[in-house]
Amino acid sequence: MTLPNVEMHVFETILARRSIRNYTAQKVDRTSVRTLLEAAVHAPSAMHQEPWAFAVIQNRSLLQQLSDHAKPLFVEELRRSHPQRTDHDLQSLTHSGFNIFYNAGTLIIICAKPAGSFVVADCWLAAENLMLAACAMGLGTCVIGMALPALTLPELKLELGIPDEFTAIAPIIVGYPDGETAPTPRKEPLILAYLSATDG
Ligand SMILES: Cc1cc2nc3c(=O)[nH]c(=O)nc-3n(C[C@H](O)[C@H](O)[C@H](O)COP(=O)(O)O)c2cc1C
Repeated sequence: MTLPNVEMHVFETILARRSIRNYTAQKVDRTSVRTLLEAAVHAPSAMHQEPWAFAVIQNRSLLQQLSDHAKPLFVEELRRSHPQRTDHDLQSLTHSGFNIFYNAGTLIIICAKPAGSFVVADCWLAAENLMLAACAMGLGTCVIGMALPALTLPELKLELGIPDEFTAIAPIIVGYPDGETAPTPRKEPLILAYLSATDG
């Protein structure tokens, strides 16, 4: 594996990562994608099952098509799970100009065969590895949970090259950030217990 030329300390990278929703037109090249996948597969996995598999989509018209399919399905799901939401609340999501991938040129979908109770956790650990590596390489990322309902559709999976027996778990857009993104504030850690050997 060729290591990317980065100098960020891991904690700096954790603090610098944020969800990026504005991208330049610059394409993410194959070598960079390969490095991101290498970072992903170095995540820990339960019983070292390494259940992940990846679909990389850099075809803009396919991404637009996926976005168009995903929006109504996501809104339907949101209406079901949050009946108090009004049409006004959902307006920005249904707007025809809104692309759920924020016009990013690359979508990486982390998939797995749903076997074993930790498969989903494994894939999200891979996702965070990928996003931190991307950040250290000057790339922006954002998880697009909105895409998931559409990614269960057999005809779309077929078009995206995801075999039927694989489930999409973590869709992540990747691209070069256009401008700065302010950090999202965090709550202080809620510590429920901190039992040290000297207490009691
Ligand atoms: C499981 C998951 C699903 C998400 N889905 C979306 C999404 O569909 N669209 C979006 O713009 N951001 C999405 N996000 C990004 C979150 O909104 C973001 O992580 C959160 O606001 C914190 O901001 P930060 O990532 O910049 O720290 C998702 C994040 C996670 C972990």
